[in-house]
Formats: sequence, C-alpha cells, structure tokens
Amino acid sequence: MRASALSAEKVERKLLRSGSKYAKDFVKTRAFRYMLEKFPEMFNKNRFVKEITEAWGARNAIKGVLIESGEEYIVVDAGSGAGYFTVLTALFHPATKVFAVDTHTEFAVEDFRDLKNAERVRMDLFSEEFEKFLSSFKKVILVGIHLCSDLALRFIDLANRVESVRHAVLIPCCVGDREEILSFGFIEDTYEMWCAYLVSKIDTEKFRVISRRDPEILSPKNVVIKMRERVK
Ligand SMILES: C[S@@+](CC[C@H](N)C(=O)[O-])C[C@H]1O[C@@H](n2cnc3c(N)ncnc32)[C@H](O)[C@@H]1O
Repeated sequence: MRASALSAEKVERKLLRSGSKYAKDFVKTRAFRYMLEKFPEMFNKNRFVKEITEAWGARNAIKGVLIESGEEYIVVDAGSGAGYFTVLTALFHPATKVFAVDTHTEFAVEDFRDLKNAERVRMDLFSEEFEKFLSSFKKVILVGIHLCSDLALRFIDLANRVESVRHAVLIPCCVGDREEILSFGFIEDTYEMWCAYLVSKIDTEKFRVISRRDPEILSPKNVVIKMRERVK
C-alpha cells in the first residue's frame, strides 16, 4: 500500500479547517484513525475533504435505518470509486455488509480484506449481471455518490424496478451533454435543474422522496436525493 503524502497532522488540520461539521466530526472518530492507518492513499489527494463530507452526508441519509435494523440490509455503493463511503459505513455499521461496485481496474478487489463487512465487486452498473446481483439480496440500500449523467439515470431506473432496493440515496454529479436539460438555458443553476429532472424520474408509488442541498458537503454538487420505500 502506498504511504500517505500528507502527515496525519496535516490531514487532521485540513479536515478541521474545512468549515464542514462533517469533517470535524469525522476527525473525532476511531474510523478516522483506522482509515489513516489502513487506507493512507485515500488521503493522498487534495480532494479527500470533499470525499469525506460526501460519504458522511450519504451515510447520514441512511443512518437511521442502519441503526434500527442494519443487519437486515446490505448496502451497495454503486460507482464507489476509492470507496470512502463503503469504508466509513462498514466501520460505523459492523452488522451491515457493504459492497463497493465499480468497473475501474485501479481498485483491487482485495482492497478491503481487513474489513470483515466490506467487499469490492468489479461490475458494470449497466449490465444485467448487476441487476441480478441486486436482486439476489432481500433488502438493499442503493447509494450513488457523484454519479454523472447516464449513470445517475441508470441508478434511478434500477431503484425503481428492482424490488429488493428498499431505500436509495443519490448525490448526482454533472448532467453531461443531455440536451433535454441544457435546453433550459434560462435557468441559472443547471445542476439543480438536472437534480429536479432526476427526481421527476423516481417512481413515487414505490418511494417517498426528499431532496435537498446539504451545505455540510463541500461541493457545489451537494444535492442529496433520498428515497425511502413506502410502507405498504
Ligand atoms: C465520479 S466517480 C464517483 C466515485 C465515488 N462514488 C466518489 O464519490 O468518490 C464515478 C465512478 O463511477 C465508476 N463508473 C463509471 N461508469 C461505471 C459503470 N458503468 N459501472 C460501474 N462503475 C462505473 C467510475 O470508475 C468512478 O469510480
């Protein structure tokens, strides 16, 4: 494993000075020490403050369910990237299995071998295999952090159609070149327009939807779309 380019003190200072409550709270946890020791490469790049606040914000959105009945659910971090959310959630909720799904070959499937409840899976979110993977579990919480354009739409399509997906959290990224959004040139915030469009695609018979900006997430793309299955 590569050593961290930043010392532990520098990482801590950056998080504490970031202005986000999430980053400050994270520093106080054992998870922070663990991640620094086991996954130093996660703190190599300057982006880690943003990544931590996103992961914390997404976990906040499902914390209640996991505390109440975490052992009933598996969590799928769709398009996980390095896996900040996966590691954070696995550490905070040891009774819950978390899968980090991504196609990128940079991430080794054995990355999380020290965590008994986290696993990397190399799979394409657009594949039928992924749909089958989701269906193979009884209760799934699907999470997608910073998914762009078609990936965000695929995420919503899967949440709508796959029965085992009971809750979902999406923090969308850019709209890409989708003309149906870009044509609304008179709306100042294209990102918010894009998020509203995504929300309009959610099956509201299946889910109750709450969508809002989370200012503690240190990114201009900080809309959190939370979907909770309606109790029948
Ligand atoms: C913008 S990154 C977000 C990473 C992570 N969720 C985060 O916020 O740090 C998008 C991720 O999706 C992955 N990805 C892109 N297309 C994919 C696909 N078809 N199936 C699975 N993963 C994909 C990329 O490899 C990348 O890691």
